[in-house]
Amino acid sequence: MYLTKEEEKILDGEMGEVQERMFRLLVRLGDIYGADKMIPVGSVQVAGVSYKSIGDPGTEFLEDMSSKNTKVKVLTYLNPAGMDLENWRKLGFPKNFAKNQLRIINAFKKMGIVITSTCTPYLAGNLPRFREHIAWSESSAVSFSNSVIGARTNREGGPSALAAAICGRTANYGLHLWENRQPNVRIKVNTDLVYNSDFGALGFLVGKTVKNKIPYFTGINNGDTDQLKSLGAAMAASGAVALYHIEGLTPEADLINKKDLETIEIGKKELNDTYENLNSNEKPDIVIFGCPHASLREISSICEKIKGKKLKIPIWICTSRLMKEAADRMEYTDVIEKAGGHIVSDTCMVVSPIENMGYNVTGVNSGKAANYLPGFCKQKVVFANIDKLVEEAI
Ligand code: F3S
Repeated sequence: MYLTKEEEKILDGEMGEVQERMFRLLVRLGDIYGADKMIPVGSVQVAGVSYKSIGDPGTEFLEDMSSKNTKVKVLTYLNPAGMDLENWRKLGFPKNFAKNQLRIINAFKKMGIVITSTCTPYLAGNLPRFREHIAWSESSAVSFSNSVIGARTNREGGPSALAAAICGRTANYGLHLWENRQPNVRIKVNTDLVYNSDFGALGFLVGKTVKNKIPYFTGINNGDTDQLKSLGAAMAASGAVALYHIEGLTPEADLINKKDLETIEIGKKELNDTYENLNSNEKPDIVIFGCPHASLREISSICEKIKGKKLKIPIWICTSRLMKEAADRMEYTDVIEKAGGHIVSDTCMVVSPIENMGYNVTGVNSGKAANYLPGFCKQKVVFANIDKLVEEAI
């Protein structure tokens, strides 16, 4: 791989031991995947933030890095942590878990990483532009930035994202290259998609079917950014789809080569079967929205539906701290809390320890959460649209 003079100096250890170690990791990845050079990145999003995911070894590694005065070179955001960083006591997060989670957050903060723990950085002040090279980790954020924004990122692991943040670069391979962004399967959708959960169900089914291919969708006539984030999140979870295109909706759809693609058709029956397969048909003991993290539009629509009602079981809405603050100002938080629900920031149903907080059956409208909750959180899942879930809760 071609390296500039400055990059050679980093590799020779002239910029310190941490930079050398991190840069070596990036060069090794570049060599494995046949990169020709390093490229600067506009921003980074680091995963591996919850104490539930990284445990003591990860915490000690981060504390060691931060104690060596390591600083990131570009705008760097964090994936959700394992708890609401401010209201964890009120929400019942275990004290010992909180203590360890705060150690992790402090280590990141010392390195200059912005403590906006969210999987929707693009809604919280980290918005890349079309064709900008970035190094993001969280699979739904990777999918959204590649597909809906047209930025370019591979799905980074926690360490490689951290290395990109510290070095301000990544290796030029995979989805950074135009030739690798071409679709290899056509998905013809023959049914209307109304709810965000319809997009989640479609994403779950397509991800499971196409694995790590790049789908090109036709027949999706409309979809707002919330629905596209649901679609991408589910495809990344049940498969490993990091980029998709939709005719007429996503920015690269007119530019790619669509010739000679195998076509898979999906209609109402397949969508209904997916709802059925993801559903345990039990009664939920909590309903959690916000996978990926809820936008203000989603918070306001839940707020409208439960205004003046009393919930029988709690509703959580997971979101970024920034959205929560906007919801506070709009008095949505107040309405939701009066009904018996909570807006939970900085974390989500999958990376928080809900299995230790007395919950066994969780209602969700997210294909991604429905995919992960049984394995990660020992939950039975009720997968349904927002109206059905709100009805269950009141
Ligand atoms: Fe985000 Fe957690 Fe879902 S990280 S995409 S809310 S599983």
